[in-house]
Order: sequence, then structure tokens, then C-alpha cells
Amino acid sequence: MAAPDHLAGAGRIGAVSAASGWPGGFIAVSDRRPAEAAERVLARGGNAIDAAAIVLFMLNVVEPQSSGIGGGGFMMVHLADRNQTLMVDSRETAPAAADAEMFLDSNGRPMPYALASTSGISVGVPGALRGVELALARWGTLSLAQALAPATAAAEGGIIVDRRLADSIRHARLQTQCGSAPWDEARLVFRPGNDPSGCGRPPRVGDLLVQPQLAQTLRLIAARGTAAFYDCNDPSGLAQALVATQRAARRELGERGAGRMSCADLAAYRAVVREPLEVAYRNWLIRVPPPPSSGGIALIQMLRMLERFPLGDTEAAFGREDFATLNVMQEAMRLSFSDRAVWMGDTDVLPELPTRGLIDPRYLAQRSTTCPGDPGAAAYCITPGMRAAGIRAGDPRGWAESSVQAPRQGAAATRSQPGRPEGGETTHFTIVDRRGNVVSWTNTVEAPWGTGLMVPGFGFLLNNELTDFNLVPQRHGNPGDADWNPGADDAAPRKRPRSSMTPVIVFAPAEGGHAPRPVAAYGSPGGSTIINTVLGVTLDLIDFRLSVREAVEAPRLSLTSAGEQATTAIESGFDAVVLQRLRSIGYDIADTQESIGAVQAVVIDRQTGLADGFADPRRDGRGIGVPAR
Ligand code: GLY
Repeated sequence: MAAPDHLAGAGRIGAVSAASGWPGGFIAVSDRRPAEAAERVLARGGNAIDAAAIVLFMLNVVEPQSSGIGGGGFMMVHLADRNQTLMVDSRETAPAAADAEMFLDSNGRPMPYALASTSGISVGVPGALRGVELALARWGTLSLAQALAPATAAAEGGIIVDRRLADSIRHARLQTQCGSAPWDEARLVFRPGNDPSGCGRPPRVGDLLVQPQLAQTLRLIAARGTAAFYDCNDPSGLAQALVATQRAARRELGERGAGRMSCADLAAYRAVVREPLEVAYRNWLIRVPPPPSSGGIALIQMLRMLERFPLGDTEAAFGREDFATLNVMQEAMRLSFSDRAVWMGDTDVLPELPTRGLIDPRYLAQRSTTCPGDPGAAAYCITPGMRAAGIRAGDPRGWAESSVQAPRQGAAATRSQPGRPEGGETTHFTIVDRRGNVVSWTNTVEAPWGTGLMVPGFGFLLNNELTDFNLVPQRHGNPGDADWNPGADDAAPRKRPRSSMTPVIVFAPAEGGHAPRPVAAYGSPGGSTIINTVLGVTLDLIDFRLSVREAVEAPRLSLTSAGEQATTAIESGFDAVVLQRLRSIGYDIADTQESIGAVQAVVIDRQTGLADGFADPRRDGRGIGVPAR
């Protein structure tokens, strides 16, 4: 099927009207207060990197359940003056003492996720602070101390508890092991006051939340630099306290639940600057994060598998919410998530992972176009009207754009794993400045409130990022075997757990002597659903030609496993008759209709550079346009 003509040219993406566009830039954040702090710095002439640093620290104060200096993330940054796009990887890292069996109990059974993810064993070495430090030092105009100042003031002066924070503070993860000091520390901040349960009392909407210890920590970092956080010899004692805190173990897990991080692990942490991956989709160029994100590879895979369908052509019954569209989208998700389970992970530790093969157009064509009638290959077909049975991971070894090797036939024997729990918190923000610099940054402490462990006296929470590793090791066989499983996301020393975070920047192609120009940037929280949310927004902007606001608001759908028991999560707003037809061909579509993700998006006019954007109403976000100076 050929794409209809309108898809070959510019849709609405790339065009921002003078009436709605902002010459000074645009900020989209999941909370008003960081967005306003960023606006002030852009208005004073700061750049997008400065504003991003301010937002990251402010989010630690106003949205501590989602991200903070005890976590990590991926920053996609486009630097206008040198026309360069990079990714800063501040993903948490496993300690040197990690091993593939670390999440098995003494009987060899996997620890229950709810226990492992609230115990010190799941704390990765935090990277957020090193990421900001690197970005500011290379491309910012503010010092680290200046970037910390608004968050310090907000933590000290207090913030008003809004509905979302109040609801989140009631979350079960802040009621872990009540009466036990390592978890009580966070309750003293967020659930102060006595309660017969011993779990403290949550604040009411409108209450003032003051975080003096966090303020003190931010002030300490401003004065002493990041060494205060990463160096156990620092006299502040912060790093020592961090290492001691992650030794806390849930009672049920015994000593095996204790974290393995040492002072040497903290000292060894480095943020890494990486080259993004990219894909040409229709007439646009999309730059995405490389491993240890799986989101970039999976997004490229899905876009390449879907490009042959005339998405957006309502006459061909490929409108946004038509049966055929939702059918082929789900098949692309299933194929990609089954590859992800076997082949995607930290390529610094496992350079043999076949990243190039996974995104090779020939591999993806073979994987998604071989349809019934081709004997034995039905599992690799995307055909409207069909839900393929028995999807397995493909075999991307041997495929590589530079390779002349004949690809292997058949597929890895590994069947799709049922989706395992991956936290649904996390936060994303997007900023463009008046010079055309763009930051698209997703940050996380993994599950809501991370482990729930707060470093005593220092006021910040520790992530549970290491439960993004396989809780049961998957590695088996050898690289030459047909059924080799490389254990791509098995835990290992100093390895970064596979992530779904997918901050992206979309470019108009090079033209008239101009290099590719950014026209959109966005991302989302939501655990593994992030990838599907970012896919959906990409199709909305490019194929369905929605405005940025429509794309952010439109209902979403997400399927994160090819397993036969997998359920499609779906938001309300889809046509019931279409959903019934999808169910009739085998999809299990959830009735829960919970919200999926929270996209913060910016679009930029390819000619004028005017910016516009939208913050997702699924959170209490704020999009702010900046006037000319
Ligand atoms: N912890 C969420 C992610 O990295 O995808």
C-alpha cells in the first residue's frame, strides 16, 4: 500500500502561526511552578539548558514522587549554533557487586516486585545530578549554584499541596514498613503527624509542604559542588548517608534485600554523552535516545513497520481511530516489544547486542511483511484484519545497514515474556529557547516515590531503578546458537537497567542549504507505555495532522507485550464498535480506561522559529510561551 500524497509533504507539524507562536521560546512541564521558574530564566536571556536545569531541581520539590536527585534520566538536547543533537545519559547504574541473580530470594525464587522495589536492593547509583552538572558545564550559562537557587527557595519556603500531590502522598508506597526508620524518614516529610497506623497523616489539598532538609542539601551542593553527593570523604556526610540508607532491607527479604552500593560505586558514576539514533519517517527526521533506552530502538522499529500503511487516509479506512489503524499499531507494538524483551539493554556492557540489526529496514520489512501464504511465517505478519498468534522475538543478528552478511532465517526460539512490572511514574519536560536550542528530558525515580527510602537528614528519595532489570535472569546459550538469549537486561556490575524513556526531537529535513531544523520535541512518563505514547503522538502530528494540543489530548492505547495473555490499555474516547471488532479478532482490551502517560510537547515553525506547545491535562502541567525580549 502506498502512502497517500498528503503524507509526502508537510502536514501541520512544522507550521506555527504568528498568532499562536512565541519568539522567545516555549516551556512544557508537568507542574506550573517549575515552568514559571524556567520562564523567568528564559526571559532574562538564559538558554534552554539553563531552564532545564532549573526545572529538574524544581520538580524534585514539587513532584518528588516522580523524579529528583536520587534518580536519573535521559536528556535529548539540540544545540542550534552547532547544529548538533546529543543525548545525556544520567541513567542510574548497578553497583559493582550486582549480579544477575540479585533479585532471587534464598530459595532461588524471584523476589515479589512490591518487596524488591521498596527495598535497598533496587537502588541504582543516582545520575540526575551528574547529568545536570555535565549539561550546564558544556552548554549552559548558569552555574550549578544558580540553577539550584529556585528549588532551594521553594523547598525552604514551602509549596502548596495540590490535588495530585495529595493523592500521591496517600499512595501505598509511602506506607511501607511503618515504624521502621529508613522508610519513616520520608513520612516525616510528607505524612507528618501521628496516626494510629503509625504511617503518619497525609496533608490536605492547600496545606503548606516545607522541605527544609532538601533545601539544606541543595544549598550544600551549591556550595560544595556535586562532590558533596558523590564523594564519601566529603565532610557533609551526604554520600556516606546515601550508601547507608540503601542498605535497608524489607523485613520479608532479609539480608538479600539490602542494597549493594558502595562509596566506590558512587564515586565512579559518570553521565555519558551519546549520539542519538535517528529514523526518517515520511518526510521527517526523528532523533531518539540510544541504549540503555529501549524506547528509541522500539520507536524506530514501529515507525518503520507502520510506514507502509496509509495512516491518516480516512478513505482507505486508516483514520486515527479506525479499526485498521488500531489493529496495525497493536501488531507493531507486539512485534517490537517481543524483540525488546530479548535484544535490548545496556550496550556498554553488552556491545554484542544487535542494535543496528534491530532497526535495519530490511530486517523490519522481513519481520512485519511476511504474511500467511508464506509457509510457516504467519507470526511475522502485520495484516489489517489479523492478530498474529505466537509472536516470538525476531533474530536481528546478521542484519546491519553496513553488513553484507546474509541474514539468518527464522527467529530466536525465545517466546515473548509476559510484561513484567515497570513503574508508571517518571516525568517529562520540553523546552525551546529563542535561539532554537531544544531540550527534551525525561527523568525518573522509577515507581511512585522510588523505593520510599529517604536519605536521613538530607530530604531526598532514592530510586528503585534496578527493578527495571530482569528479576529472573534470561541469559542462555551462546552467541552462535539459534536460540541464544543474551540476557540483555539481566543485572550485572555497573550496568544500566533498560529504560523505556523516549524523549524525542523531530526535524524537518535539510533543505535549501539548511541543516535539518527542529520542528517538535516531546516525551512522556508511564513505564513501558512511554514508547507507545510517544509513537501515538508521532503519528498524530505527522500522519493524522493533529495540532500539538490535539495530539497531546487525544485518547491513547498501549500494548506492551506480545504474550497471549497481554492486555491492551486504552483510554476512554475510542469508538465502542471499533473496540468490539478488535476484541473479535483476539485483542484483550482493558475496560479500566485509566490515563496513559503525560506528554509535554513543543512544536516549532520550520521557517520562523516561532514556538508553541502544550502540557498534558492528565497531570496539572503548564505550557508557557515566552515573548520576545
Ligand atoms: N523507570 C522507567 C523507565 O526507565 O522506563
